[in-house]
Amino acid sequence: MRKPWLLTAVIGLTCALAGTALAQADGAAVYLRCFGCHTATGAGIPGTFPPLAGHAAELVKADRSYPVKVILYGLAGEIEVGGKKYNGKMPGLGDQLKDDEISAVLNHILSRWGNEKALPKGHKEFTAAEVKAQRAKKLTGEQVLGARPKLK
Ligand code: HEC
Repeated sequence: MRKPWLLTAVIGLTCALAGTALAQADGAAVYLRCFGCHTATGAGIPGTFPPLAGHAAELVKADRSYPVKVILYGLAGEIEVGGKKYNGKMPGLGDQLKDDEISAVLNHILSRWGNEKALPKGHKEFTAAEVKAQRAKKLTGEQVLGARPKLK
């Protein structure tokens, strides 16, 4: 090898570029953690798993911290969505997902399935810092239910 420094430089640059790509959490990939229950189209299963299609934007409009809390801490107790009752338990995913993965999955959900049309005016994408602030609260699924905003 006549120019070992060149090889080192190329490897270093490749790693730096790959690192940048990995630093950005992929919302679609994170959604694989949700779709077993909420389904691939976000439609959910009426009476068992509430829909996220259209409905997630409605929640954000009422209180944008609420869906962050649901993903971090889960949700337990009776809710009503689109005239249907749900009384299940969603497990908290805060131990398994990083702050930027949670903001990325929310941005993924909010950019499709009709949510994109129902977002509040001037909506800004979720950030990892916003998730971090909610993580400090350490709630239970029951407390998240108590924090659920009233929907029209
Ligand atoms: C094991 C099944 C399961 C998984 C996995 C799951 N959820 Fe849920 N989710 C539920 C159930 C069940 C409810 C309703 C709980 C209740 O009735 O109190 C719910 C409720 C919600 C709500 C609140 C709906 C409302 O109207 O208050 C949101 C938002 C939500 N899930 C998003 C997600 C996202 C995003 C993911 C993935 C990061 C996810 N869920 C993963 C089962 C699941």
